[in-house]
Amino acid sequence: MSDIKRVGVVGCGLMGSGIAQVVATAGIETLVLEMNEELLQKGLGRIEKNLDRAVQKEKLTADDRDAILGRLTGVDTVEALKDCDLIIEAIVEDINAKKELFGALDELCPESTIFSSNTSSLTITEMAAATNRPDRFVGLHFFNPVPVMKLVEVVRSPATSDETFDTAFAFAASIGKAPIACRDNSGFVVNRVLVPYLLDAIRAYEEGIGSVEDIDKGMMLGCGYPMGPFTLIDFVGADTLYRIAEIMFDEYRERRYAPPPLLRRMFLAGHFGRKTGSGFYDYSGDTPVVTDFVRLN
Ligand code: 3HC
Repeated sequence: MSDIKRVGVVGCGLMGSGIAQVVATAGIETLVLEMNEELLQKGLGRIEKNLDRAVQKEKLTADDRDAILGRLTGVDTVEALKDCDLIIEAIVEDINAKKELFGALDELCPESTIFSSNTSSLTITEMAAATNRPDRFVGLHFFNPVPVMKLVEVVRSPATSDETFDTAFAFAASIGKAPIACRDNSGFVVNRVLVPYLLDAIRAYEEGIGSVEDIDKGMMLGCGYPMGPFTLIDFVGADTLYRIAEIMFDEYRERRYAPPPLLRRMFLAGHFGRKTGSGFYDYSGDTPVVTDFVRLN
C-alpha cells in the first residue's frame, strides 16, 4: 500500500476522468477539479457511464459502483485540493497554464503533498521549477483509455528526490497499473517511440506508398497492433498528436518529430478524429470511412 490517501485530479477530460476513475476504484478518496460545472458534469458522466457498463457486463457490482462514485467529489476551486497527499494534473498541454496551476497549489498545499503531471511531452523540470518543491514533483503519464491501458510512466526530473519517486512508483502500482521508470526527456519512453511512428505513417501516406486503410491494415495484421496508425491518431486526437509533435520537435530539432503538412491541415481545420466526428475517418455511420479531407489528389 502507498501512503496516498487523498488524491486531487485537475482536469476531467478524457485523461483526467479516466485517472479519477482508476484512483477512486482503487479505494482512494478522489477530488476532481474542472474549470466549469459543464465540463465537470461531462467528465463525471463519462466515469458513471464506464462504471455502468462494467456493472452491465457483471464485472462490477452495483454496490461497488456506488462506493466508487461515493469516493469521487467534483470541486470547482483550487483551494478545495489543499489537503490532498498527491495532485495529478491532467489539463491542457500548455506550459504556462500548468505553471500557473502548480504555482497556486504550491501556496496552498502542505510540504508533504506530492505534485505530479500527466503531461505527455512537456518537461517535468520546467513545471517543477515554478514551485518551491521541485524535489516533490514527478511525472505520472497514463495512457488512453486510462481504465484499460496498464502502463504508467513515472518520470523523474533531475530534481526529483528518491523518496518522491519511490512513493509515486508505489502509488501507480497500488492503483493496479504497471509503472515504468523514465527520465525527463520530452516524450519519455512511449511517445519517444510512438510519435515518430505515427508521423511516419502520415508521411508514407503523403508519399503515396499506401492508402489510409491499407497502412492501417498493414500494421494491424502485420504487427499485431490493436489499431492501425490512422485509427490510433483519430483515437488520440490529431490535435493532441500535433501539439505533442511540435513540443518534441522543439526539444530535439529533428525532422522525425516535425508534424507533416497533412497533420497540420487537420489540426487547423478541426479534423481531430473521434472527438470531432471526423479525422482520417468519418465516424457518423456504422463503420468508419476515410474522409474526403485526407484524400490526396
Ligand atoms: N474507457 C473504458 N473502457 C474502455 C474504453 C474506454 N474509452 N474503450 C474500451 N474499453 C474497454 C471495453 O469496455 C472492454 O472491456 P472488457 O474487456 O471488460 O469488456 C475492453 O476495453 C475492450 O474494448 P472493446 O472490446 O470495445 O474494443 P477493443 O478490443 O478493440 O479494445 C482498445 C479497444 C482497448 C482501445 C484497443 O483498441 C487498444 O488497445 N487500442 C490501442 C490504444 C493505444 O495505443 N493507446 C495508447 C495511446 S497513446 C497515449 O495515450 C499517450 C498519449 O500521450 C498520446
